[in-house]
Amino acid sequence: MTTDRPTITRRQLLRGIGAIGGAGAVYTAMHAMGLLGGGRALARGPSTTQALPARSMTGKRVLVIGAGLAGLCAGMRLARAGADVEILEATNHVGGRSLTLRQGDSYSEWDWNTPTTMKFEQVGDVPPTDPDNYLNAGPGRIPQHHERLIDYCRELGVKLQPYLFHDAANLMQNDDWNGGKPVQLRRLKNDLRGHLSEMMAKVQNQGALDKLVDPSEVDAFLGMLQHFGQLSAEGAELVYRGSATIGYPRAGYRVQPGDVKTPGRPWPTLSLDDVLNSDFWNSEMFNNLENFWQATLMQPVDGMDMIVKGFQRASVPGGKTVNDLVVPGEPVTRIDVVDDKVLVTGKRQRGHADYVVATLSAPLLAQLEGNFLNPTVKQVLSSVYVTPACKVGWQGRSRFWENEDRIYGGISWTKDIINQIWYPSYSFNSPTGVLTGAYNRTADAAEFQKLSRSERIEVALAGGEKLHPGFREKVFAENGVTIAWAKMPYQAGGWANDTFETQPEVFTQMADADPINRKVFMAGDWFSYWPGWQIGALDSAHLATDMMHREAANRG
Ligand code: PHE
Repeated sequence: MTTDRPTITRRQLLRGIGAIGGAGAVYTAMHAMGLLGGGRALARGPSTTQALPARSMTGKRVLVIGAGLAGLCAGMRLARAGADVEILEATNHVGGRSLTLRQGDSYSEWDWNTPTTMKFEQVGDVPPTDPDNYLNAGPGRIPQHHERLIDYCRELGVKLQPYLFHDAANLMQNDDWNGGKPVQLRRLKNDLRGHLSEMMAKVQNQGALDKLVDPSEVDAFLGMLQHFGQLSAEGAELVYRGSATIGYPRAGYRVQPGDVKTPGRPWPTLSLDDVLNSDFWNSEMFNNLENFWQATLMQPVDGMDMIVKGFQRASVPGGKTVNDLVVPGEPVTRIDVVDDKVLVTGKRQRGHADYVVATLSAPLLAQLEGNFLNPTVKQVLSSVYVTPACKVGWQGRSRFWENEDRIYGGISWTKDIINQIWYPSYSFNSPTGVLTGAYNRTADAAEFQKLSRSERIEVALAGGEKLHPGFREKVFAENGVTIAWAKMPYQAGGWANDTFETQPEVFTQMADADPINRKVFMAGDWFSYWPGWQIGALDSAHLATDMMHREAANRG
């Protein structure tokens, strides 16, 4: 048999590696080949937070555009390798979209005459400045597999706590269903499981699964269905009579059972029609199955910007911190490549640099003046679609969602334009707490962001009312805040909308265009497979700085 390439089995390869490098090398190679399974895959290399080689960037001047997570991480890495770094930030805020609002914090969308200032009230013994009082106006959760981000948290001393995505008591509301009255998530999920299991059992009984289920496994299959769907055995039939028929009802109780004289009242069973008509099978019911929303998710204690602050206080050579490298209020307007240098212009000329890391969102990068972009790359970057995203925040006059609805963290979902209400995952039973009172994206966000601030607040109060009757009186309505990321200065929107999937050609072309002129290295969550996630910012920052370092090494 002839082949183009010499074939070698994995076993032969490992034997060869063993002969040269010993058992340790075999182990490493097996890891790299993914043969050990389980455990930790080495996909990201030995250390996710690895520094560049010491002094490898000494003598190089690098300008980083943007002091969001990508810019801070890139700036830190380059400075630690000896580069002379400045991080030019257009606004006076460090952290980009990683924005946590606390008492007295202000921000403005571009068409507002006056800023919004976050205001909390004293409730019980919780003062307005209590560390619990904050709204994550940007990112709010960290998946367990965002390794580099979690590792940086460890190294930067950022404490993490659980972020609860899913409480079975979370509410699901649709104006066109159940008279608009919300229903607990556990009812929809468990009744659907019951109905599906019953259907599968019927199909099996009719012999329709004979080809799919081996006769020796039929008992196991039916046993699994019975357990999965809480089915009752009635003669030869397995049927779903509601989750209250056998054992504890998974769909939960309308009235909780208690003492010996209080048996409790389970919820009535939702029919399959009910579940289908709810329309939540569309996504909301199953969102916690998404790879990036699976338990366990995390959040920094005291607010998402604790990660930003961790980077800010990280030390760099010269007795400085990363924060000392940041030049605030310096919006870059043009980038020119002049001979072997890059000339960056902000409010003033920033002088010649050897390299640039550009972290501003693709369409904004495309808008910069100067000769650094050829028309094709400009076109590619300007066509990256950035989805709008909006949030609303409220402080509760009490923790009514806990005291009345018995919801402890998670998200209630509604077909209303507010889409979601997030409940705090921490400090249960406190006298007060902060709700994310709306979080929408794409079409709903595009609609919502057209409204004025006060209109958005009114709409969000109406949306909250659908999930929690009396909502307006239960929150400090007059202190509600709203943010539309597409309307924040120097932001293009919430995040690039899965460019690799929705605009594959654009994605490939933008990936291929990097680095521009071998001098301008792109970074930011949009320049990754994780748009809309902080890990994307860090991964892209590592790529940019790795490539820059290689480029510098090649040039000597
Ligand atoms: N990370 C954000 C979130 O969890 C935005 C996002 C949503 C990103 C869905 C990708 C997919 O809400």
